[in-house]
Amino acid sequence: MSSTTSIHGMWSSRLAFILAATGSAVGLGNIWRFPYTAGEYGGGAFVLVYLLCVAAIGVPIMMAEIMLGRRGRQSPINSMRALAREEGASPFWQLLGWVGILSGFLILSFYSVIAGWTLAYVFRAAGGLFSGVDAAGSEAMFNALVADPERLLAWHTVFMVMTALIVARGVSSGLEQAVRWLMPALFVLLVVMVLYAAQAGEFRAGLAYLFYPDFAKLGARFGEAVLSAMGQAFFSLSLGMGAIMIYGSYLNSRASIGQNVGIIAGMDTLVALLAGMAIFPIVFANGLEPGSGPGLIFQTLPIAFGQMPGGSLFGALFFVLLVFAAWTSAISLLEPMVAWLVENRGLSRPRAAALAAAAVWLLGIACLLSLNLWSDITILGRGFLVLFNDLTANVLLPLGGVAIAIFAGWIMRRASSADELGLAGDGLWYLVWLVLVQFVAPACVVLVFLNAIGLF
Ligand code: TRP
Repeated sequence: MSSTTSIHGMWSSRLAFILAATGSAVGLGNIWRFPYTAGEYGGGAFVLVYLLCVAAIGVPIMMAEIMLGRRGRQSPINSMRALAREEGASPFWQLLGWVGILSGFLILSFYSVIAGWTLAYVFRAAGGLFSGVDAAGSEAMFNALVADPERLLAWHTVFMVMTALIVARGVSSGLEQAVRWLMPALFVLLVVMVLYAAQAGEFRAGLAYLFYPDFAKLGARFGEAVLSAMGQAFFSLSLGMGAIMIYGSYLNSRASIGQNVGIIAGMDTLVALLAGMAIFPIVFANGLEPGSGPGLIFQTLPIAFGQMPGGSLFGALFFVLLVFAAWTSAISLLEPMVAWLVENRGLSRPRAAALAAAAVWLLGIACLLSLNLWSDITILGRGFLVLFNDLTANVLLPLGGVAIAIFAGWIMRRASSADELGLAGDGLWYLVWLVLVQFVAPACVVLVFLNAIGLF
């Protein structure tokens, strides 16, 4: 049977777990990725599909993932091996952990580059470079950064070192304090940005863009848009690679999983929607293009900070908090491989963290070069950064998520899952969850895949 604690440490309280898991979920995915992806697919229809995916696929899979982690109490690879043995299933299930490590590796390599942009922008804001900047000026500023491999490398390196340092200390001690104060601060600042957008931007146009679902706009890109909305849900909720699983392995056995997931998913969704409500009114007020891609917030926000009173201070603070949000997410991407290195290779935590971070850092260099010197090296029409971004969110994470749902719904005995979720096995909530992980989530993912490749 499973043990009641993890050798890597435990969260000090239920609140600590909620903070850490919310810290993992809320990050660049909400504030950088959600607005630009919604913008690429025309807004409202994408947002509606995204919300449906969070509710019908994301929430039940997050419950399953936490549950598997808490029962396994080890790195995802070893947890899956132990659980498969406990349920008399094939050891093949540990492949789920391996694919998760690969996904974490790929995601963190480009995530760190984008976090590097955010670090660079702290200094641009603080240095007053935003004041009075117009759309063309902020676009030029962004393009200059992305074209400069040395700067990108410097910031990417700083961010990977920051991430490795916390993981080396152990997430349960390193993380709690940071998340407790900084997440609420980021939230308050986002609300202030939305209020600013409401009075200085095209607020009505922004809200209509975000919340009025016009499926006609998707046209021939319907399948691709739905796939991207689902991928965004997995990415934003940190699902499908074992990050939430390993955080679950540090959670004590009494905490109610369903309630926690409701809070985490709710906060994550709220932050993404607030980010959209802050960005799009400014986009429309300045004649910018909502579909301009990954540079969207870096081209939009400086204009707003440049116009508002105290914008240098405010802008610097905003980007600092965004760096923290990215940091608390990056930690969860590195943790599964570090835990595995500690368990199976007998490395000390600091060594394991340094080794894993160095490998990710190297791959990150390919990502940042794909923006400039290597821009003509493409695979499937994409440079490395875009390729890793699309491949993980739209393919690997949903596959990992389905495997988690199938294991939790079909392989695990009902007595085990009901017991671990703390629900009565014949109660309504348990049955709703069971139907979602057994049928709804896997079927939705498969249909979205088939639809995207044109088979359905
Ligand atoms: N969810 C984070 C964000 O929105 C990124 C992230 C952290 C992640 N851990 C993950 C994404 C695990 C996928 C899987 O920024």
